Amino acid sequence: MKEVKQEISIKKYLYEELSDSDKQLIEAAKEATKRSYAPYSHFNVGAAVLLEDGTIVTGANQENAAYPSGLCAERTALFHASSQYPDKAVTTLAIAASNTEGFTELPVTPCGACRQVLLETEMRYKRPIRVLMYGTAFVYEILGTKNLLPLSFTDKSMD
Ligand code: THU
Repeated sequence: MKEVKQEISIKKYLYEELSDSDKQLIEAAKEATKRSYAPYSHFNVGAAVLLEDGTIVTGANQENAAYPSGLCAERTALFHASSQYPDKAVTTLAIAASNTEGFTELPVTPCGACRQVLLETEMRYKRPIRVLMYGTAFVYEILGTKNLLPLSFTDKSMD
């Protein structure tokens, strides 16, 4: 038996340390939380996708009484972007979330299904996506799903 260890890299910032363009994308994600439809969880998530030409596309979680029929903010934004601008690569995704007490203190991290869609988006546009996860205490930045989804399943897994 051999133990295989894999490292991931996460950058942790104070909001004030971020560039103006990253702050702008996070503010778009925070604004998008207002368009969340979350009558069941009362957890309002917003996502903002930055495309290679500077276009920003947002999404918010959309819930349903039949719970699995709803969709997370990240996939809403990514699918919206690829439906509207299929030829423009995604460069960065920002995520923010609020509960009944306001924006979460800790950064909101994407669920497994959203990580899988991020991976497919990276493979489609052949470039890693930066993910900015907002919390009022600090912000996480990761570069690429290799840091979010180790041992991932891709089309190559079927070879
Ligand atoms: N949710 C997101 O939109 N993104 C995440 O990263 C985590 C969870 C949504 C799904 C559901 O509407 C609510 O948050 C509670 O799980």
